[in-house]
Amino acid sequence: MSGKKIVILGTGGTIAGISAQAGDNIGYVAAQVGVQQLMAAVPGLEQAARGPLVAEQVAQLDSKDMAHGVWRDLALRCAHHLADPQVQGVVITHGTDTLEETAWFLHEVLDVRAKPVVLTCAMRPSTALAPDGPQNLLDAVAVAATSGARGVLAVASGEIHGARRVQKVHPYRVHAFSSGEGGPLGWVEEGNVRLEQDWPSAPTGHAKGAIEDIADVSLWPRVEVLFSHAGATGALVDALVRDGVQGLVVACTGNGTIHHALEAALLRAQQSGVCVVRSTRCPEGQVLPKPGDALPDSGGLSPFKARISLMLELLRTGG
Ligand code: SIN
Repeated sequence: MSGKKIVILGTGGTIAGISAQAGDNIGYVAAQVGVQQLMAAVPGLEQAARGPLVAEQVAQLDSKDMAHGVWRDLALRCAHHLADPQVQGVVITHGTDTLEETAWFLHEVLDVRAKPVVLTCAMRPSTALAPDGPQNLLDAVAVAATSGARGVLAVASGEIHGARRVQKVHPYRVHAFSSGEGGPLGWVEEGNVRLEQDWPSAPTGHAKGAIEDIADVSLWPRVEVLFSHAGATGALVDALVRDGVQGLVVACTGNGTIHHALEAALLRAQQSGVCVVRSTRCPEGQVLPKPGDALPDSGGLSPFKARISLMLELLRTGG
């Protein structure tokens, strides 16, 4: 027993969802149950924590509606608790829909070199016949309480994923998350962690203290994601540039290729000062850059995570 605290921050999601009819797994309203109540529904949570549990409701929303200001508030609460020597780790209950984006945002701004921040969730509401939330919460707490655990992690269906690779890959099944070809970092089995890979390493490119960059931000750089596809045009890009967009992430076809009409508009946008980054629509792998590429690639980040990194970069550089 470490004796140190595990802090559980509630933000909503299906894990806190309620359906009018018990057993309805899709016709429910997310973000209805408070984090204290979620914890009370999990026998053995205190033993898994190996120390005191502290709960805080930071937000109560369906994560499709996640907003940059909620990310800022959540990151500040995480940073506050992580700085407390009596805290072993932080667990966040979250919706599945944008969990990977929140995980990447937190990875980019928090110092998690020595402690874990573990996001967890559920595909079924709390009123389901067999809800997955209680087991996921128990597993997430077990991971947070594990000695040596660090980094921003996601725990669901017994798997532990790192923030960089984790993606929601299924809209319905309980086993909805994947880290693609790299596989999960490890598993939680009867409260014990079995690691296949090391805990995630610290973000490169920015130093401890990045949380200060976002502490007072209310106006976030505008970065949009668009897709290259058959029949694409440059009309959306031109409209976004007219509307003052500062960054664009393109979900490209294959190895970072772009429909010629869209590409022409993106190059015009880049020339006018908009930051343009290429990612790929492919669910596996990453864009392999070639000498002479006019548009930089995302370094393996999905379009949605690349959007976050570009937004934070623009914030730091005054973009
Ligand atoms: C949400 O993302 O908040 C709703 C969907 C879910 O958690 O599965």
